[in-house]
Order: sequence, then C-alpha cells, then structure tokens
Amino acid sequence: MIGIIGGSGVEEISEFADSIEKKLVETEYGSVEVSLLSIEDKTVAFLPRHSAGHTCPPHKINFKANIAALKEIGANQIMATNAVGSLDLDIGPGSIVIPDDFLDFTVNRDVTFYDNEVIHIDMTEPFCNRLRGVILDNSDCINGNVVDGGTIVCTEGPRFETPAEIKMFSILGGSIVGMTTLPEAVLAREKEMCYAPIAIVSNYSTGISPTKLNTEEVLEKMAQKKDELISLLFNTIKSLSLEEDCDCYHILDDAHM
Ligand code: HPA
Repeated sequence: MIGIIGGSGVEEISEFADSIEKKLVETEYGSVEVSLLSIEDKTVAFLPRHSAGHTCPPHKINFKANIAALKEIGANQIMATNAVGSLDLDIGPGSIVIPDDFLDFTVNRDVTFYDNEVIHIDMTEPFCNRLRGVILDNSDCINGNVVDGGTIVCTEGPRFETPAEIKMFSILGGSIVGMTTLPEAVLAREKEMCYAPIAIVSNYSTGISPTKLNTEEVLEKMAQKKDELISLLFNTIKSLSLEEDCDCYHILDDAHM
C-alpha cells in the first residue's frame, strides 16, 4: 500500500479521492488518525504530519506513532511532502526538490524503534532511489524547477535558522532546510518501508533571503504549489507498482549485531 505523509498544504488531496475511510490506528506509541483514500483503484493511506488543522509543531510530532501506524495499516511505500527553505540561489521558491541525502541537526527527538536491541541500518542510499525515480518520472506536471537530488538539512525548530547556521549548512553541502524529515525517514527504514521526500521550496533560507522570514510567505507559496503537488502525487500513485520488490523491504536482514 502507498502512504502519504502530508506536510503543510496537502490535506486537500482527500477531496480528490473517490472515497475516504477514516481509521484510528492504535500503536504502542499512541493512536493516530489515518485516512484511507481510494485513488486510481489503489488504496492510499494519508496522514497529515502536523495533525488535522496543522496544530502540532515540528518538534512535538509523534514520529514513532505515525510510522508505526502506517506500517500497521499496511503501507510500505511512503511519499513525504514538506516545506523547506533553500540554501541555493539557483533553487528558488516554487522549486520542487527530490533530495537524495540528509544532514541530521535535530537535537531532541526519539530517533529509533530499537532501544532494547542492537540494530544498525545501512544508510548508503538514505532515501529510496526506486521511489525517488518514479516521483521524478512523473514530475512533468510541476510548473518550474524540479531538482533531482541534493542534501536536505533537518533542524530541530520550531524557530527558523540563524545566518551563521545557514552558512555552516552550506559549507557542509546542504541544499535545502526543513524541520520534519528526521527521524521520520530513519524510522520508516527501520520498519522496512520505502520512503522518499518531496520538498517544496517556500522561501530562500535566512541570510540568503533578502527579507526576514515569515510563516505567511511559507503558507502562501505552499498554497500556490498545492495543485501541482497533488497532480504529482496522483500521477506517481498511478504509476507506482505494488508488487515490485525493493531493497528497503529487506533492510533488517543485515542490520542485527
Ligand atoms: N527553514 C526551516 N524550515 C522551513 C523553512 C526554512 O527556511 N521554510 C519552510 N520550512
């Protein structure tokens, strides 16, 4: 089953589904409401990352409950959308980035399902390259820049970054910055699910932007890109195989000590 973790601005995908069934999924980390959408004859599990109505701040998201709920309901290929700032003048607001690596600058999150077992999962390809490829193959509907690859920096938030932090992230090779990719991507891998982020650039990051950052410009840009993003998700859902095998489904085979 395909899963979508929707960041700011994609809740409306539900309105385009043929049918919707809301389910409260109980997990050992908490209960999570997931919408089962019927799209193109496929069932898609949709989970708004910040909860209904965007009420949960990034540093308080119950990432373990969210990923456990998607696993429990049968999702094994997750597309995760998020708003990001750009560190690169060539990747302007309105661009879509499908990153292929991350830098984890979160400081206070529950990062693993394995607290009582020694597990080290491989991170040579931090996001699922098979899923990334299908998303990129379906990105013709995007009006503007689509970037294949790049490093997403994940900060703790909820504040935006300082100019010195952005300079440091640039020197380290970061291309975009957001607050929600981690530990989400790692937890999905620990549950042997495919995971690929779809990052929507809402602003230039601090110090690169000619103006001070504000949440209004983030929301405005996300609203502007919403229809294209929903088309991208739809087209990708249509062409994704539910049968094809993937290395992500076997990641734990080589991870136990
Ligand atoms: N920084 C971090 N997260 C963000 C940004 C940003 O500039 N824009 C949207 N989400």
